Amino acid sequence: MANIAIFASGTGTNARKIIEYFKENANIHVSLVVSNKATAPVLALAEEHGIEQMVLSRRRFYETEELLESLKERDIRFIVLAGFLWLIPEYLVRAFGRRMVNIHPALLPKYGGKGMYGMHVHRAVKAAGEAVSGITIHYVNERYDEGGIVFQAACPIDPEDTPEDIARKVLQLEHQHFAPVVEELVRNLNE
Ligand code: GRF
Repeated sequence: MANIAIFASGTGTNARKIIEYFKENANIHVSLVVSNKATAPVLALAEEHGIEQMVLSRRRFYETEELLESLKERDIRFIVLAGFLWLIPEYLVRAFGRRMVNIHPALLPKYGGKGMYGMHVHRAVKAAGEAVSGITIHYVNERYDEGGIVFQAACPIDPEDTPEDIARKVLQLEHQHFAPVVEELVRNLNE
């Protein structure tokens, strides 16, 4: 059995998909949801599913390595960042390496980096007149959106699509692909 932790700051629709996907899985278990916001809806979602929740303070995250201890105590094998907005500190990158992925709502290396999240991304894609956008699942390092790419999927953008339309198409791809890709990565760890 591999325990995974989901880190999320917001609504958690990806977290929901992942939790539901692994609900009946005998080998992979979502056992912890970590957020930097005590009011994040993703925490209520975790509660609803009987999953342990943890709220991080900036100080604890960046100035101590207590989180690492907590993850070790819970035997967390893999970390999934699903809309987690804080930059990951080096101690966590060092400890997890290829056992931690993020999802980004565009085709990296385009439209990534600091400040490129949520609707900022889709507005930039629209402003550039792109004909496609998509998702990128990538390993995590100490710089925003620069870790090695694991998986990408694309969707067409029609000229009349608004940034909101693009966001909808991209989110749909996230929901479709994120959990199966995580499953594959976690399965490969055991080989
Ligand atoms: C997703 O678009 C993801 O790509 C980004 O943050 C968003 C999270 O959405 N990193 P949700 O909270 O899972 O609905």
